[in-house]
Amino acid sequence: MTNTRSLKLIENEQTLCELPVLAGSTGPNVLDVQSLYKHTGMFTYDPGFTSTASCSSAITYIDGEAGILLYRGYPIEQLAEHSTFLEVCYLLLHGELPDKAELSTFEHNITMHTMVHDQVNLFFRGFRRDAHPMAIMVGVVGALSAFYHDAMDIHSKEDRLMCAIRLIAKVPTIVAMCHKYSTGLPFMYPKNKLNYVENFMRMMLATPCDEFEPNPVLVKALDRILILHADHEQNASTSTVRLAGSSGANPFACITAGIACLWGAAHGGANEAVLNMLLEIDDVSRIGLYINKAKDKNDPFRLMGFGHRVYKNYDPRAKIMRETCHEVLSELGLHDDKLFKLAMELERIALEDDYFISKKLYPNVDFYSGIVLHALGIPSKMFTAIFAMGRTIGWISHWDEMIADPEQKIGRPRQLYTGQTQRELPLK
Ligand code: CMC
Repeated sequence: MTNTRSLKLIENEQTLCELPVLAGSTGPNVLDVQSLYKHTGMFTYDPGFTSTASCSSAITYIDGEAGILLYRGYPIEQLAEHSTFLEVCYLLLHGELPDKAELSTFEHNITMHTMVHDQVNLFFRGFRRDAHPMAIMVGVVGALSAFYHDAMDIHSKEDRLMCAIRLIAKVPTIVAMCHKYSTGLPFMYPKNKLNYVENFMRMMLATPCDEFEPNPVLVKALDRILILHADHEQNASTSTVRLAGSSGANPFACITAGIACLWGAAHGGANEAVLNMLLEIDDVSRIGLYINKAKDKNDPFRLMGFGHRVYKNYDPRAKIMRETCHEVLSELGLHDDKLFKLAMELERIALEDDYFISKKLYPNVDFYSGIVLHALGIPSKMFTAIFAMGRTIGWISHWDEMIADPEQKIGRPRQLYTGQTQRELPLK
């Protein structure tokens, strides 16, 4: 981070203060307002953080106008084409791609931590069978805080790495358990000879009655979904993890805060909402009705899977996921399926509609990932939990970066108060 110049804040020809302009390695500069209150008695006001950089970070770079997404400098397109999810996890966590030996050790360490403590199994029984998987995830991942005291010194690099490995390894097991619990099927224990994604698919979709045969096209598709969801700089859930972690809280609890934030339909809940929306539209003949609802200012309905806070021209992840979507549909012979035809027609109409073009509302990654997950036979209630599984590495990498930062302090935003000014309690 370099100090390039400063900007003066002037009122009635009087300089109130001079604020440094800081430059990163690429992307917009930032105005450092840390001294603003001291000099002027004013705070900045930016609800939704549309113009605020909450931290400096070396993990992920996004250029929303150009549709660029880089993990540690590497374009998402190249990572999706040539890397596995676990390589991407190593890259995000350590800053560099692993060599062969490093990758093999990392994969081994993850595999050795996929089982959850046997008592974790008991937690599930406390939930209703019809509980939403994200509700169970919040409870069970949070409960991990109570299990791993042996490596919990957040100021130790080794302990932080151990927490990261445990989370990357155990979250898929917990996601699969959520699914099995809700369907009344037995939990499937991890199988060490399978790779990360194969193992997850087996825990999720197989039963003890049959052998599991991984289909490489479907395994690759799920691996890609995880890569594309692995990180997205200071999004709502990652910022939540950072804020929770800034007080020095337990890392498992911080990741749980991220899971809670991800659940909302404007964030990770969108992939599930896409499927529900397609089921509600039901028929190609009704698309026009829903497009009109989306355009109607008085109707809260939004076309799920369209639009993005940062990508205003296209979402580079959506482009990759669209290709994967077609690969999966071909592999499974589903191109003529009613739901997929409906999705493709909705995509076509929205891309040609003036409202969506003028507001730059393109299909985002979750439009296609929802369709792919549905094709894989994963129920829509599980979609956001799978997003959480991919994003866990992003959350933990940001948490680790923040804790290691010598300038780290508790996050404590201020406000513009609009309530009652001081008044006296009425006498009784
Ligand atoms: N359907 C219809 N209109 C929309 C949509 C949509 N999906 N998204 C935005 N708009 C309109 C919105 O009504 C507003 O219109 P106006 O300027 O007339 O008031 C304009 O477009 C700008 O929308 P905004 O809500 O101010 O934009 P935002 O940047 O705050 O919101 C968003 C981004 C993703 C929350 C929003 O586009 C949305 O709700 N999309 C649907 C949900 C969705 O697919 N979310 C997944 C995002 S990708 C996964 C992730 O990274 O978490």
